[in-house]
Amino acid sequence: MDNPFEEFWEQSSLHSRNISDYGRRMSAYDADTKELRVSYPERANSHKKPKTPLSKITAKRASSRAFSNTFLTARDLLSLMSHLSVLTDDLEHRTYPSAGATYSVETFVLRFDDHSVNYYDAEKNGLLPIGQHSYEQTDLERVLSISHSGSASALVIFVGLPDRVIGKYSERGYRFMLLEAGAMMQQLALAIAQDKNLAGCAIGGILDTEFLTLLGLGDRNPKLLTGYLVGRKGA
Ligand SMILES: Cc1cc2nc3c(=O)[nH]c(=O)nc-3n(C[C@H](O)[C@H](O)[C@H](O)COP(=O)(O)O)c2cc1C
Repeated sequence: MDNPFEEFWEQSSLHSRNISDYGRRMSAYDADTKELRVSYPERANSHKKPKTPLSKITAKRASSRAFSNTFLTARDLLSLMSHLSVLTDDLEHRTYPSAGATYSVETFVLRFDDHSVNYYDAEKNGLLPIGQHSYEQTDLERVLSISHSGSASALVIFVGLPDRVIGKYSERGYRFMLLEAGAMMQQLALAIAQDKNLAGCAIGGILDTEFLTLLGLGDRNPKLLTGYLVGRKGA
């Protein structure tokens, strides 16, 4: 393989053959020794944080894996997804920035109530059904490496299409694609934070290839970036 990005992608992919190594590695990790800030000889002076509309929402942001047993309605789900939509009717201007307005990250939604696989159409703020999946709540630990309680309503999947962005920026574009997905994830996290009925969590340990096959992206060289499990907040 002569493309270092493809090599990196291959090496960092999770599939049924290496998922147990991934789990073992996480269990063996000693979190007590992790560095959480850079220690210079002095500390910064502390300043009072202003209360702003954004800070009030951000204060409620948290990863939650506890869902109720009631599914979100399609309408609730679309209200949440609307935070990833276009602003006005312009596909080149959305709720999050994108390098060169290339929008190299697409979003898919797997619902657990009707088992539909949907493409999120950011222009329409609509879910387009493109197929069916067979995952049940009991499968999620195996395919997402996550323990949750109650019933998650949907799995949002962010998929990168690097060709869209490297055409303009060459190799540097790969970075931009990943950064764009991060901005989208935060949009979702804040949208969940501002609604007391919602819960959700980013899913880094998703089985890449297993989900990609459901999305019908053909030869676009899709890269599964991350998942986000969402649902109604549980106890
Ligand atoms: C890229 C990314 C991947 C993550 N993957 C997982 C995951 O696979 N399983 C999980 O339970 N939490 C996952 N999380 C959530 C983190 O564990 C969580 O953000 C962190 O513990 C801080 O907690 P907080 O978000 O509640 O502040 C992920 C977060 C990010 C940003």
